[in-house]
Amino acid sequence: MTVTETPPARQPHTVGAPILEARGVTMRFGGLTAVKDVDMTVNEGEIVGLIGPNGAGKTTFFNCLTGLYKPTEGQVTLSGQVIPPKPRAVVIAGMARTFQNIRLFANMTALENVMVGRYCRTSSLALTSILRGPKFRREEEATRARAQELLDFVGLGDSAESLARNMPYGDQRRLEIARALATDPKLILLDEPTAGMNPQETKQASDLIFRIRDSGLAVVVIEHDMRFIFNLCDRVLCLVRGEVLVQGTPGEVQSDPRVIEAYIGGDDDDDDDDVVAGGATEVRTPPADTVTDPTEEKQ
Ligand SMILES: Nc1ncnc2c1ncn2[C@@H]1O[C@H](COP(=O)(O)OP(=O)(O)OP(=O)(O)O)[C@@H](O)[C@H]1O
Ligand SMILES: [Mg+2]
Repeated sequence: MTVTETPPARQPHTVGAPILEARGVTMRFGGLTAVKDVDMTVNEGEIVGLIGPNGAGKTTFFNCLTGLYKPTEGQVTLSGQVIPPKPRAVVIAGMARTFQNIRLFANMTALENVMVGRYCRTSSLALTSILRGPKFRREEEATRARAQELLDFVGLGDSAESLARNMPYGDQRRLEIARALATDPKLILLDEPTAGMNPQETKQASDLIFRIRDSGLAVVVIEHDMRFIFNLCDRVLCLVRGEVLVQGTPGEVQSDPRVIEAYIGGDDDDDDDDVVAGGATEVRTPPADTVTDPTEEKQ
């Protein structure tokens, strides 16, 4: 019998209970209110987009969610538990992120970078690590195997031994995602995952994000590429000057004149980005310093 193979249709996914609930999140820097009274709910199985012109407060909001900043006001809960605004507590609770400016350990291999992400889930105490006993070796092996699995998942299986700094820009972005996934999150936040990518890489990134969602994670993604956002997301929030201007389905947000006005009329800084009308997209060039040590300054 001959079986004609057709590509599997994308399964309709179910949206479940809320995972992330941010309420009244406000972040002030002196006289500047970068994020103002933002509420956001993300449900199981959802991909939520966060858009807005340069300086709208998108990254600052991510920094508040992930404990890099302690919000001036507001509260963040993950699966019903209030999470303290500390990066380690946030990761342990099940929220991972990538950064707008890529942060990898430049002189470590791809595999080692992912293994670093995994250490928050291993139990070896410092003494066990120093003695390098059987328990340590077992955990190290398991960590290595999981890291390789994640590299395969993001399409970097053959680059395990490449130094991060020598990898092409698009691969570095995927490596950051693999490292975030290594922390076993329930929710992953991606800050401009396709910045600087060509259309083919952008398509791959969108396929990868669907696969991440299909593997059971919820996703929040910041992007300036509107075609990418509207094709990918179940819901979209548009931030302007730190406040939620509009939220809704991609169709609702795309056709809302306030969103178009915010981008075309309200963006008074450099004009290197963002055209919404007609679904035109932006191409950004990668920053010169794409690889930085993740322990460096907050971003
Ligand atoms: N640590 C900080 N100290 C002072 N001001 C800050 C700090 N971090 C961010 N800001 C300010 O907060 C505002 C929001 O910045 P943010 O980086 O969150 O914008 P964004 O929406 O991510 O923009 P982009 O699309 O360009 O990445 C900006 O005016 C920025 O200068
Ligand atoms: Mg930003």
